[in-house]
Amino acid sequence: MERIKLHDKEFKICIPYEQIMESIKKVANKMNSDYADKDAPIFLAVLNGSFMFAADLMKFITFNCEISFIKLSSYSGTGTTGTVKEMIGLSTPIKGRNVVIVEDIVDTGGTVEVLHKLVSDAGAADIKICTLLLKPEAYKKDIPVDYTAISIPNDFIVGYGLDYDELGRNYKDIYVLEPK
Ligand code: IMP
Ligand code: MG
Repeated sequence: MERIKLHDKEFKICIPYEQIMESIKKVANKMNSDYADKDAPIFLAVLNGSFMFAADLMKFITFNCEISFIKLSSYSGTGTTGTVKEMIGLSTPIKGRNVVIVEDIVDTGGTVEVLHKLVSDAGAADIKICTLLLKPEAYKKDIPVDYTAISIPNDFIVGYGLDYDELGRNYKDIYVLEPK
């Protein structure tokens, strides 16, 4: 589909599924060489946005690993609220473990900062950040984003797990908000 309408807004396709998969494969291959000789890490996927990315990423991973999920919330509509709430906490002990935080998108970095602190406070031995999408112009934090599949401009996008007020997560391509 070239265009989708979610609530009151129109979006047009900007990153087709095939390109998303190619980018994920590249990032997975980088991890495959980085983690080949390390203790099996635990991937901590951030719900809801990263469910599709996490599922596709895992299929390209060739080392032993675990996966678990955490749920946070910071967004309302198309602008960040600036506050991040923990909704489903850590269900797995991660003390002494290698942890890879799996995000759908890193925007200002507020979410990543909160997650990094949470995982660090829980005693992780090593923490890496992996994101499908990064908005470099918006990112304001010092925490390194270790694995980025795709860097994008400072636009609002949906699809492939990402939503506009909970709609749009099901579409396999990524769409950008059309200016009115
Ligand atoms: P941050 O805390 O500002 O980095 O925002 C991160 C979270 O905001 C992401 O995990 C998404 O849930 C949401 N978000 C940021 N940018 C977008 C976007 O362009 N479309 C949809 N959700 C977004
Ligand atoms: Mg998210």
